Amino acid sequence: MTNQENEPTLYERLGGEAQLRQLTQSFYQHMDTLSETKPIRGMHAKSLHMSEEKLFMFLSGWMGGPSLYWEKYGHPRLRMRHMPFAIDESARDQWMLCMKNALDEVVKDESLNDEIYQALYGVADFMRNRP
Ligand code: HEM
Repeated sequence: MTNQENEPTLYERLGGEAQLRQLTQSFYQHMDTLSETKPIRGMHAKSLHMSEEKLFMFLSGWMGGPSLYWEKYGHPRLRMRHMPFAIDESARDQWMLCMKNALDEVVKDESLNDEIYQALYGVADFMRNRP
């Protein structure tokens, strides 16, 4: 699958479903274990299973792969769905720390790693809803 410019999608460059699974699994493992991310871990349900599944499904479409989240849950309205949680700069940075660790574990291609990190930083910053 390619995008309109016929260039490979982020999903393809990452290596597809198996790699994305690894990325989201690693992401929540870090959230569950890093001391720095205790505040955002505490916002989540006791089991991180559903969060992991939903992030996997969302990122699949976001990276240009199958639109799994859309097909199952409809429009993500991510900013609205995050409103109940107090997301300030610190929460954003905690989320990005989990993602940085996960990317460094799973994505060895430095330029791809950096591209995904920068793009997700934009999404995470957009989620901020507290000063
Ligand atoms: C900026 C810091 C962020 C924090 C603190 C945060 C926190 C949360 C929390 C607490 C939930 C609810 C989980 C549960 O019910 O147990 C959630 C759901 C979710 N988050 Fe985030 N999030 C952040 C950023 C992001 C970003 C950048 C993305 C996407 C790239 C994302 C994607 C999702 C998705 C897809 C869900 C599931 C929504 C649903 O209920 O259908 N989050 N997030």
